[in-house]
Amino acid sequence: MSGVQHTVHDFEAAARDKLDPVHVDFIAGGARDEITVRANEAAFGRLQLLPRVLRGSAVRDLDITLLGSRARMPVLLSPTAFHKLVYPEGELATVRAAAAAGAIMIASMASTVAVGEIADAARATDSDAQLWFQLYIQPDLEITEALVRRAVDAGCTALVVTVDSPVLGAGERNRRNGFHDLPPGLRCENLVDLRDGERGHVRQIAMSPELNWEHIDWLRGVTELPVLLKGVLHPEDARLAVRHGADGLLLSNHGGRQLDTVPATLELLPEILAAVAGRIPIVLDGGVRRGTDVVKALALGASAVGIGRPVMWALAQGGEEGVRRLLELLRDELDDTLALCGASGLADLTPDLVRVPAWAPVPGPAVAPGSDHRFGGGAVV
Ligand SMILES: Cc1cc2nc3c(=O)[nH]c(=O)nc-3n(C[C@H](O)[C@H](O)[C@H](O)COP(=O)(O)O)c2cc1C
Repeated sequence: MSGVQHTVHDFEAAARDKLDPVHVDFIAGGARDEITVRANEAAFGRLQLLPRVLRGSAVRDLDITLLGSRARMPVLLSPTAFHKLVYPEGELATVRAAAAAGAIMIASMASTVAVGEIADAARATDSDAQLWFQLYIQPDLEITEALVRRAVDAGCTALVVTVDSPVLGAGERNRRNGFHDLPPGLRCENLVDLRDGERGHVRQIAMSPELNWEHIDWLRGVTELPVLLKGVLHPEDARLAVRHGADGLLLSNHGGRQLDTVPATLELLPEILAAVAGRIPIVLDGGVRRGTDVVKALALGASAVGIGRPVMWALAQGGEEGVRRLLELLRDELDDTLALCGASGLADLTPDLVRVPAWAPVPGPAVAPGSDHRFGGGAVV
């Protein structure tokens, strides 16, 4: 497929044409039967928007400030590993595009460019876009602390700690394809030389089944940066996150790549919001593909959303230019949806704009045939 991309799905189709099918599977795939992968997108499709009218505004404000980081759109680039797998410049191309759009990028700990270089590339654009760093807490806390220091030295303004990965998700497509390692020449650059005297040593990312809340307490003690937890799904854990000093949650099921059959993140949003009771912001990712999806999540109470796969597809399709166009597209769709909902900015997005369809007719008093029932009786749906 060639030509211009008009939707996020067009980027996916274009990337599929370009990439090695093994890498397509790595990006598109999820855990086990991929039930949660499908559920994330489907959940957005099930909700309806109920717009307001005649609240005119010529321009719409899409700016946000999230834990002290300012952005020109409420769409973050969720952390995704291995950008060089799909485009030679890798994360450098991605961050330049994010900076141009004024979007917050969360650099993955498993990036193929070191976080310091990603930050330098962002700064070179003269944009004030912020970079966050995603961390898997390592069993060796000295190593974890060295990673945090790297993120701080790079100028990252928040840490996103992924807590849904005590073990690696079962990506059966990858197993079938025998895709276990990065190709020669590529490596996780953040994991190079983490301990003094380790010249050229590259560590493997360790998943830590022993992780517990004490690790979060420990992390709070080693950094002043805002800490968001990524992958909290149970409301009780959301309450614990607040108690343990988390500054925010990235409500995420890892795009369906960890535990299969967990609910769509959108479905969990009301429960998680109720659990944290406004004390910390909630960012949501998983299945966001349209401006209408962004509006639904924000109207229901999310502070922002994240996108994972779309960034990989756009990067594969067109490098920096591709990601820039993807973000512009989402921004245009978001702006257009706000206008159609009668919103002059994100602050106007309220839960009454979103409805779960009620297919069953609401029973009302019977109306005699031929009677004028305009002002009484009848079903009000
Ligand atoms: C190719 C790929 C790599 C990912 N790598 C990471 C990662 O390194 N760390 C992490 O916390 N999440 C990772 N994720 C999950 C994303 O951060 C995000 O939660 C998910 O992709 C959102 O769903 P979406 O792809 O439907 O937008 C990855 C997802 C994909 C598709």
